[in-house]
Formats: sequence, C-alpha cells, structure tokens
Amino acid sequence: MHRLESAHDGQISQDGVVSVNGFIHERVCLIVTGGIAAYKAPAVVRLLREAGAEVRVVMTRGAQAFIQPLTFQAVSGQPVHTDLLDPAAEAAMGHIELARWATRILVAPASADFLARLAAGMADDLAATVCLASDAPLFVAPAMNRLMWAHAATRHNVSVLESRGVTMLGPAEGAQACGETGPGRMQEPEEIVQALLGKAPDQPLAGRRVLLTAGPTQESIDPVRVITNRSSGKMGYAVAKAARAAGAEVVLVSGPTALAPPAGVETVAVQSAADMHAAVMARAGACDLFIATAAVADYTIADPAAHKVKKQDGELTLVLKPTTDILAAVAALPAPPFTVGFAAETRDLLTYARAKLTRKKLDMVAANLVGVPGSGFDADENALHVVWAGGDQVLERADKELLARRLVALIAERLRAKTPA
Ligand code: CTP
Repeated sequence: MHRLESAHDGQISQDGVVSVNGFIHERVCLIVTGGIAAYKAPAVVRLLREAGAEVRVVMTRGAQAFIQPLTFQAVSGQPVHTDLLDPAAEAAMGHIELARWATRILVAPASADFLARLAAGMADDLAATVCLASDAPLFVAPAMNRLMWAHAATRHNVSVLESRGVTMLGPAEGAQACGETGPGRMQEPEEIVQALLGKAPDQPLAGRRVLLTAGPTQESIDPVRVITNRSSGKMGYAVAKAARAAGAEVVLVSGPTALAPPAGVETVAVQSAADMHAAVMARAGACDLFIATAAVADYTIADPAAHKVKKQDGELTLVLKPTTDILAAVAALPAPPFTVGFAAETRDLLTYARAKLTRKKLDMVAANLVGVPGSGFDADENALHVVWAGGDQVLERADKELLARRLVALIAERLRAKTPA
C-alpha cells in the first residue's frame, strides 16, 4: 500500500487526497484509448485498487473496439464512462464532476491520436474533456507503432505536453504487436502504477507564492544596441523549477535568456532594469517569498537615442544613470515578503555577503564567487555560501539544478522558522 508519512487518521491533504490510517486514498480516473495495449488496462485497474486507490474508467470510442466496457466495470466495481452527451450518464456523474473527483488522471494506453488531441486542448469526447476540465496531475502511458512515436508530429505533441507538466510514463522498447521492434510499447502495469502512486515528493513550499527575477537585463543605447551582461539565467531558472517542485506557486520575471520557460511556472518576459522593477513591484505585494537571482544592470543609459547612433570620428561618450535596486525596494515594502538576494563577489565573499544582508535588510543572501573558471555566470556548476541573521551554510559545488534544490530546501527551512505556514 501507498503510505503518506506525515498523514494522520482521516486527514485530507491540500490536493484533496484522503488518507485513512496513514494510507493515501487516491481517486484515479483511468482513461483508456484505442490500441492493442488496451488489453493490459484491466491489470492497471486491479493493481491500483490493490494499492488502495478508487478507480473510475473512461473509454474512448477507439478503446471500445478493443475491449468491452463491461470488463472495466467488473474490475473497477464502478460504472464505466463512455459518452459526453448522454443525459443519463451526465445525470449520474457528469464530466465536470468526474474531472473534479479525480486526484490523478492516467491515460493508459495513450494513442498517438489522443496525444494530439490533448496537445491541441480538444474537448470533442468525454476523455479529452475530462483532461481539459481538471487540474489533477496528468500521467500518460503512450502505446503506438514505433514510427508513429518517432514522427515529428508526435515528438512535437509530447514536448508540448511535457512543457505543461504532463508526466510521460514510457513508452518501453521491444517487440510490437505490428511485428516491428522499437520504442512504442506501453509500460508494464506494475511500472505505471508505481510511478503514479510513487511517494508524494516532499513539498516544503506548498501553499507559498514565490516571485523570482532571473537573467540579465538589457539597457537600450539606441533602437539596435544594448548594454547587457553575461548572465545566462540558468541559476534563476533552476531555482524557479526547484521552488515549483517544492510545491510553490511560482512567477518568474526574466530578462532576455535562451532558456525555455520552466513547466508550471508563470514567466513574465522583460528587457530593461526599469521593466523588471515595474513587473516585480506589481506582484511583490502578493508573494510570500522573493528571490532575486537576476543580474540587474546597476546603470542605464541616461538618454537613449530615438534613432540609430551613426559612426563618427573620435570617441563616443555614453552618460549612465543608476537604476533602482529592485531587491532593496521589495525589502523596504511595509510588509515585505521573505527576501533572498544573490551576491556575486570576486573576493571576501562572507564579509560582503553579510554587509549586503544588513544594508538591504534582507532575510538571506546567497553569495557566489565569480571570476573563477567553471563557476558563476554562464557556467553549469556553482557553489554558494548562504548567510542569514543567525547563521550561514556552505552549499558545495554542484550542478546548478541540484544546487538550486538544496538552496530552496534551505530557504524553505528559514522561511518556516520566520513565518510558519
Ligand atoms: N539587484 C536588484 N536590482 C538591482 C541590482 C541588483 O534586484 N538594480 C539584486 C540582484 O538580483 C542580486 C542582488 O541585488 O540579488 C545583488 O546585489 P548588488 O548589491 O547589486 O550586488 P553586486 O552587483 O554584487 O553589488 P556590489 O556592487 O556591491 O558588488
């Protein structure tokens, strides 16, 4: 059985999962679509029920060509849902009710056609409508011919779905019903059920709203030229992803980067320090935690030219004026969120970091040494020395994604100590 470590008898967690005597009671909506692998779906239902989950099955018209609804009714112990527009079925448990009831949605097997309809956001049958009308985590176990799986259209649909936070389970490789061999087999029911009911990840930021800045800023000299810096945004994007994985609702205000917006994170694209300041101040009042990872320009062009500056003989002088310190502005709000700043130093890391903590009235400063090869700006690895009023901790050199998860865990710990959820 699937055990929730922190659960007490009869508790209802944030996502509505009921736990009885410490065992999670998931409500799984299993969507079966057309394909020969549909014959394995009753085994998925059986395993889910053995694990303590309640299961309701939705079948597409294609699925019913391979297997009878009665089979699923027998193994799930519940009526099977097949029609969107059947008044009797809608009266018993309508599609919206079904979508709300589910704590997890699993599509197994998922045909190429269903992936395309999911990616396009279609609502042309009950199965697609339930997926569209629910915010429950969606798990998809594709099963199709290897060439259909490899086709550019399917590749595109899968990447769209993944970018929306859909979890792809498989497909596995091996001999296919069509006689070919390659990727496209549905994962085994045991693997699917294990992935679906896997231990709920630790979510120390659940219920918290996090605002982040990331990347460089660009200050216009004229319509075609900018002053910018070497920040890639990698650390900030990794922190945004880690905060999302820790259960937070995340808004990322990002300067220009080459990175894809992280899944499940609201990304606001900005260009200049002034744009970033405006985007942050409009949202800072509504967040519990602000993390400033952006490399914001300290100076901007005093008077950007309206037209392209022409080459002239001799020197060109640009007049710069200071930008607003966004981090300090957030920390100075009447009711500031928990604020975390970054400090990039080339020497005396700890002294400068502590000075920044006090000067800007921050809750935490994550300091990193720049100017050393393979660390800091545009590198894949980094190390941090994190300081706060009552202590400090070194986060050893690691891949930025791993380092971000350690940093978020540390921030969550300090945040909980300051303002218990
Ligand atoms: N920051 C900001 N807005 C600015 C400048 C900086 O929000 N206009 C934030 C950065 O995102 C980072 C921290 O402030 O979290 C960096 O502080 P800063 O004092 O600018 O650091 P350095 O650039 O390292 O400063 P110094 O000149 O003191 O070395």
